[in-house]
Amino acid sequence: MNHAEEIWKTLVRATVDKKHPWRVVGFGTAGQHGPQVRSVILRGANPEERQLVFYTDKRSQKISDIENDPRVALLFWNARNNTQLRVCGIAGQQASELIVNSLWLRIPDYARKDYATLSAPGSVIETSPSGIALENARENFVVLNVMVEYMEMLRLDRDGHVRIAFALNEMNEWIQTELIP
Ligand SMILES: Cc1cc2nc3c(=O)[nH]c(=O)nc-3n(C[C@H](O)[C@H](O)[C@H](O)COP(=O)(O)O)c2cc1C
Repeated sequence: MNHAEEIWKTLVRATVDKKHPWRVVGFGTAGQHGPQVRSVILRGANPEERQLVFYTDKRSQKISDIENDPRVALLFWNARNNTQLRVCGIAGQQASELIVNSLWLRIPDYARKDYATLSAPGSVIETSPSGIALENARENFVVLNVMVEYMEMLRLDRDGHVRIAFALNEMNEWIQTELIP
């Protein structure tokens, strides 16, 4: 049984099923003052290209973290089947304006506001309420692609936990290795 295929199918499902536990992901970066982790929504998963897609604000801390060090760690947890997935990958901004624009067009107005704050996310609020400029929102919108390089699944089970590592061979195929949990 190829568990890598099963994992990628689950990741794709998590992008369309709003209630799927793997939709909210712990996104870890190497920050300037140590590791940083925050929740983000998984927006896309492309098994053929080993790519996971996230949206964020170009002014956010995670973007400067990634510019300094593109290596990221992701954490998925499904309490329904006690399955954890750890992912290591390389993050980069989607360079194609065409792709970013087409994804932007699908975002409803209420969600576009997330990218419209006048000050950068994480800034101290000086005025109340903090101003927004919807016309700048598209400019702040960034599509982050994570190229997956390594995955590790842990399934907790009373009859025996299962831990499997997935690394790529030279033909970019996922090779699975069972590990002691
Ligand atoms: C459930 C949930 C989903 C979130 N989804 C996103 C997201 O898709 N993109 C994003 O940039 N921030 C998202 N956030 C906010 C981040 O957790 C974080 O607070 C923000 O991106 C600033 O992080 P940074 O300063 O480390 O870059 C989400 C937060 C929660 C609680």
